[in-house]
Amino acid sequence: MTRKLKVAVVGLGVGQTHISRGYLPNPERFEVAAICDIDASHLNAVGDRFGIERRETDYLEILGMDDIDVIDVCTPPGTHKALMLAALKAGKHVICEKPLVGSLADIDELLDAESRSSGHVMPIMQYRYNDGAQKAKHLITTGIAGKPYVATCEVHWLRDAHYYEHDWRRHWNDALGGVLMNHAIHANDLMFYLLGPVRSLSARIATRVNRGIEVEDCASVTVELHCGALATTSATLGSVEPLSRMRLCFENMVIETDSRPDFTAEDAPWRFIPANDEIARRIDEALAEFAPPPTGFAGQMQGFHNAICTKTPLPLTLADARHSLDFATAAYWSAKTYSPVPLPVMADHAFYHGWQNAI
Ligand SMILES: NC(=O)c1ccc[n+]([C@@H]2O[C@H](COP(=O)([O-])OP(=O)(O)OC[C@H]3O[C@@H](n4cnc5c(N)ncnc54)[C@H](O)[C@@H]3O)[C@@H](O)[C@H]2O)c1
Repeated sequence: MTRKLKVAVVGLGVGQTHISRGYLPNPERFEVAAICDIDASHLNAVGDRFGIERRETDYLEILGMDDIDVIDVCTPPGTHKALMLAALKAGKHVICEKPLVGSLADIDELLDAESRSSGHVMPIMQYRYNDGAQKAKHLITTGIAGKPYVATCEVHWLRDAHYYEHDWRRHWNDALGGVLMNHAIHANDLMFYLLGPVRSLSARIATRVNRGIEVEDCASVTVELHCGALATTSATLGSVEPLSRMRLCFENMVIETDSRPDFTAEDAPWRFIPANDEIARRIDEALAEFAPPPTGFAGQMQGFHNAICTKTPLPLTLADARHSLDFATAAYWSAKTYSPVPLPVMADHAFYHGWQNAI
């Protein structure tokens, strides 16, 4: 049975974008019935902006609202785990921003809490909801792309002192990580969504762009995938021309995209460069009958609604967030130890409980 879900959005930075680009474009599926932020004047400004009457600075008040189906956590990363665990305990569904939590142990705790709750957790990874990315996935899964060889992913953004005025972004324990965890996480997730899981990696990180921050703002990672392909990621917050770029070489085609500043741009160009006329014909034929879901937050929220109402698996789950955490845990360990790291990272690993106080 399909019904309108009532949402409470908690944390009103990117939380405002969830409202404007995720829920408002889906009026028959969602009602943003309440908002919460510890900053009362900001809370009221956002409430006025969207005409939302129920406004709370105290999260416990939100948890006590019986009619709320979904809690959308958009607060700084270091707060996510406690807010999600409390929401699951209250029987609410949870949508939560990236990075979800700061360790594999935290994810496993959430998996356990989810298994005991009537609520489910969907991590936000809106980059997967992009026409070009969905078409690329379709060409790969139908076998038209052929054998994957190599891929490169560049997340070259610009973040200066102004960005770090939000103090949490400077610190390991609040941000949980730097450019790898907070910025390149989307593009890396997209690359592994297209190519499959990681077998091993080697990583280096550095803080070279911004002064007075604990977390890394430059990173490079070399990856071997289970499918046998090789990939590299380069990420910085010091690119004077912000750009996201990905290039994947397959037996039958090159798939490439570059976008200024990032892949969320709805018109981000994706090119499918065929090896010959026959492959070009097969690409045209496959894409002619392919209808991708809506772009960005609107598409991911629509998928969430469909899954909850039809009691089918969510489009993204804690298992997806676990893959991201596995990659990050291995990358930070590799960077610390100058060593290649096989995945998955196991529960007896030194960084299973996090790396934030050990880098
Ligand atoms: N998916 C994306 O593209 C995307 C983009 C930006 C940010 N993010 C993620 O969203 C999260 C928030 O980032 P942001 O840039 O919006 O941060 P922000 O600092 O701009 O906003 C966070 C808001 O949360 C409020 N807040 C903090 N602790 C709270 C609590 N315990 N209860 C209620 N409100 C609380 C703050 O007052 C603030 O208004 C981070 O995890 C970030 O990585 C994701």
